[in-house]
Amino acid sequence: MIQAATVGPRAYWYLTRGTGIVALILLTLSVALGVANSRRFRTEHVPRFVVDAVHRTVSLLAVAFTVIHVVTSLLDGFAPITVVDAVVPFVSAYRPLWLGFGAIAFDLLLALVITSLLRRRLGYRAWRITHWTAYACWPVALLHTVGTGSDVKFGWMLATSALCVAVVVAAVLVRAARGWPSRLGVRLAAMLAAAAVPVGLIAWLPNGPLAKGWAKQAGTPSYLLASSTTKTGGAASQAGSATAPSFTAQLNGTVREGQTADGLAVVDLSTTVSGQRLSLLHIRILGQPLGGGGVQMSSSSVTLGSTSQPDEYSGHVTALQGTNVAAQLRSPSGSVVQLVTQLQIASASGAVSGTVRVLPARA
Ligand code: HEM
Repeated sequence: MIQAATVGPRAYWYLTRGTGIVALILLTLSVALGVANSRRFRTEHVPRFVVDAVHRTVSLLAVAFTVIHVVTSLLDGFAPITVVDAVVPFVSAYRPLWLGFGAIAFDLLLALVITSLLRRRLGYRAWRITHWTAYACWPVALLHTVGTGSDVKFGWMLATSALCVAVVVAAVLVRAARGWPSRLGVRLAAMLAAAAVPVGLIAWLPNGPLAKGWAKQAGTPSYLLASSTTKTGGAASQAGSATAPSFTAQLNGTVREGQTADGLAVVDLSTTVSGQRLSLLHIRILGQPLGGGGVQMSSSSVTLGSTSQPDEYSGHVTALQGTNVAAQLRSPSGSVVQLVTQLQIASASGAVSGTVRVLPARA
């Protein structure tokens, strides 16, 4: 069981990516074994009950890894993803279309689990129809993978996705070539659909997920784009300064609201960052007060530093969305960092808690 207290947000993000990839591989195997296990298709070398047992085990593992994938993406808190986004497609604030495909795939998997548990009550025919619909889970999950996944730009992830496509396409082609002897139309349609997947991906990927600016086009909120170069795996190699700090940590503090002499609203966040040398983060936002209690930001200042040098890094807010703040800060030695906070503010007490992610950045 994952303990919220011992696994930091960054670990959750890596877990989300890792479990997503394992879930896709297992789903691929499950679909290929399901196609091979069809009543009309007989293998000479492997007894059917073995294929059947492996198919069931692999499918259960795929469901388990998908559940961990979804739960860790919710716990991570870096991207604004809610429980509703996990099951209702296309409503997410984070890459709505592509996360929406993940939600559809997840719903189909859940339907598969529920109908398999109720198989005796449903009857074989009804169960079989739902089971076939569930195969749609695979192409939808693949769209989600290439549209949402940060790692698709890397050769190993492209190779993994290509292998998954090859396995399913091969299974469908073999099945269509050898099964359904009397239904030529269905066989041709299955072959064409299988061939369309790799052709479609090859045509789309270079102008879509592999193209520059995809994170923005895919619907990543602007306050996250500031740190996307590093988050998407470029890591320190893409960063400007080798000495700039990189960490994710909890923070706690207080918020104070006031007014300047000329009527501008001032929001002051003074927080302490847990377990880091740069333990003091101060954010000040000035602007026109808004009716609902917020501030239309007109200027800002942000400092991050140690107790002996509280303004070691200083800069400004680059994006503000709700209580999420992104900022770019610089030290006198020229080291530049991007900072993204996710904050919860208790308006009654003025208590602030949440996480801060600090990453090296290009100047
Ligand atoms: C059958 C269902 C699903 C499968 C097989 C699946 C698989 C994957 C895979 C393979 C990736 C790419 C990981 C990478 O690039 O390293 C991914 C990304 C992601 N998935 Fe899913 N997913 C599913 C459903 C969902 C659902 C329902 C959610 C919503 C809570 C979700 C949230 C995410 C997020 C946030 C990412 C992006 C991680 C990143 O930026 O690297 N997934 N998924």
